[in-house]
Amino acid sequence: MKLRVRDVFIAGALPIHTYISRKSEFGLTYEFRLHNVVDMVGFLTSIVGPSKTGKTVLCDKVIGQDRYVDFIGSDFKDTEDFWETIANKVGIPLERDHTEIRTIEGQGLAGTKEGITTFITESFRSNKDKVIQYFTANNLVLLLDDFHYASPSKQFEIAYQLKDAIRKGLRTIIISLPHRSDDAIRKNADLSGRLNLINIEPWNTDELREIAVAGFNKLNMQIDLKIADNIAKESLSSPQLMQSICYNLSMILDIDNIDNPVMPDQDILDQAYRMTSLNLLAYQEVARKLKTGPNPRGQKRKTYMTIKNEETDIYELLLKAIADDPPTVSLSTDSIKRRIDVLLGDIADKPDRVKIKAALDQMQSIMQSSEPMYQVFEYKDDEVYIIEPLFLFFLRWGIL
Ligand SMILES: Nc1ncnc2c1ncn2[C@@H]1O[C@H](COP(=O)(O)OP(=O)(O)OP(=O)(O)O)[C@@H](O)[C@H]1O
Ligand SMILES: [Mg+2]
Repeated sequence: MKLRVRDVFIAGALPIHTYISRKSEFGLTYEFRLHNVVDMVGFLTSIVGPSKTGKTVLCDKVIGQDRYVDFIGSDFKDTEDFWETIANKVGIPLERDHTEIRTIEGQGLAGTKEGITTFITESFRSNKDKVIQYFTANNLVLLLDDFHYASPSKQFEIAYQLKDAIRKGLRTIIISLPHRSDDAIRKNADLSGRLNLINIEPWNTDELREIAVAGFNKLNMQIDLKIADNIAKESLSSPQLMQSICYNLSMILDIDNIDNPVMPDQDILDQAYRMTSLNLLAYQEVARKLKTGPNPRGQKRKTYMTIKNEETDIYELLLKAIADDPPTVSLSTDSIKRRIDVLLGDIADKPDRVKIKAALDQMQSIMQSSEPMYQVFEYKDDEVYIIEPLFLFFLRWGIL
């Protein structure tokens, strides 16, 4: 039976019909690895990978949404006890701070009967035990997603709490972005020897292409491999972008209503790319901020005329160079210079390498001093690394 487009290309959740199983180290799939480690008592599973590479969807696929209870890092407030946050969400009645007063009868000095009074705050321990008991009895997994959104001190506290809990059988997965919670989890001596590590690699073009091939196949269309490749290259390393573009392309081709849709030409593909960029308008503001560059403090910036007759300054030129063909996730200063030389054609005073480096450094500090949303690429060791593929896609296809 022919499926509907919306059930095939799913950009925001687990795609049933276009789920691609990728190989990790030693040719083992990520699914196989997660499946094998999640039940190991005494171990914590740490999944680390770049944004939107399929970390959450991997857990959906392997564990199933009904078998895990998920939290995100920002759910854990510094002021609230970790176990209480979890107990609240799963609906375990909380042990309120009841302080137990125990008097142990004993012999006092000079034969008088005297008691030793002890105060024990029981709530903390019993909430923890109740949570562990609830999770093990119901065969549930605790999933701490986007862990990097917890404050660094909270991350350490959680790691400390989990050390003991995993020994008692609590199955836990922690998901985070590369380098963002290494200290609390992966470099934490308390947890060393108790960690199952899964590193999710960026997607390559071959893996991305499979999404299009599998999906169009489900829609009764044999997509031309060259076209699937073209979409995969635009998607850079993002399966989400691949799903979105394929969805929009299917809409343009009206696949739900037409039995033999035409094979798209470059114009139709470009249309699908532009349509996809409409959902990424949040990056317009990011692009504008970078294009404006630092405050020129009253001085007029030097402008350059491109071969397309556009008057640009160094910051606009840099963005144009980064957005140029072919799309790529990393670019050296020299290759950016070569792209700028082509954009400017035959003019005499093109910006030199020193000027290009200085402007890239400025962009880097603008991004670093802005909110996380603005951290779309990184300039270090003479190389621009695209962190957010969606941003590069927007630069190429969106309205700046
Ligand atoms: N194995 C896969 N096969 C096909 N598509 C996938 C796969 N993994 C991810 N995707 C696509 O990418 C989207 C994003 O995946 P997911 O939300 O799991 O990424 P993430 O790494 O958890 O992102 P974030 O860092 O933002 O939390 C999915 O909704 C789906 O469209
Ligand atoms: Mg996620």
